[in-house]
Amino acid sequence: MDLLEAIRSFRPCRQFQTRPVPTDKVKAVLAAARMAPSQNNLQPWRFVVVQDDERKRLLAQACVKGKPVAEAPVVVVAFAVEEDIPVTVGGYISAYPLDVAVAIAHLMLAATAEGLGTVWIIDFHENKVRTVLGDVPEGIHPIAILPLGFPAEPNGASGGPIADGRKSLDEIIAYNAYSW
Ligand SMILES: Cc1cc2nc3c(=O)[nH]c(=O)nc-3n(C[C@H](O)[C@H](O)[C@H](O)COP(=O)(O)O)c2cc1C
Repeated sequence: MDLLEAIRSFRPCRQFQTRPVPTDKVKAVLAAARMAPSQNNLQPWRFVVVQDDERKRLLAQACVKGKPVAEAPVVVVAFAVEEDIPVTVGGYISAYPLDVAVAIAHLMLAATAEGLGTVWIIDFHENKVRTVLGDVPEGIHPIAILPLGFPAEPNGASGGPIADGRKSLDEIIAYNAYSW
């Protein structure tokens, strides 16, 4: 699958088949995350791959709606290393989660290309996630919990046409000046 096809066909996936994800697919997805660009190439990301059922169950309990986390065969937790990125965006907002977000986008598109489904989950309790994964040090923050598996339905569990509900290009693009 080429990149544009992966972008167009990606749907958030919250229901998974029980069949295991082959290790080479998990590695391919993480290898795509690894290739993401980052500020000064600092690569301030860490990924914990969770396949142990009990640990997945506890991770699911750390989420507001944890069902996909409990049910997916693999769960990737993406962390940002805050101290690696002490800079701000334009002097007004801390930049440290940005690089990890780029890596997560790589990971999600690579998952699509590998025939896998995933969804970016942020409604978790940080301290619970830290504890479940073995006392994560200060300054290292979970940015996303990503259940990963073969989708229960084609195009993820959401169904429907691709990219429905998106604003039109006219609504989000201006030329030469901010003109909304
Ligand atoms: C930064 C970010 C955070 C998200 N957090 C959650 C989440 O906590 N739980 C969830 O089920 N989906 C989450 N999503 C998935 C979005 O809900 C989904 O991408 C959006 O509704 C578009 O869905 P659609 O592609 O079906 O139109 C998140 C997506 C992004 C990019």
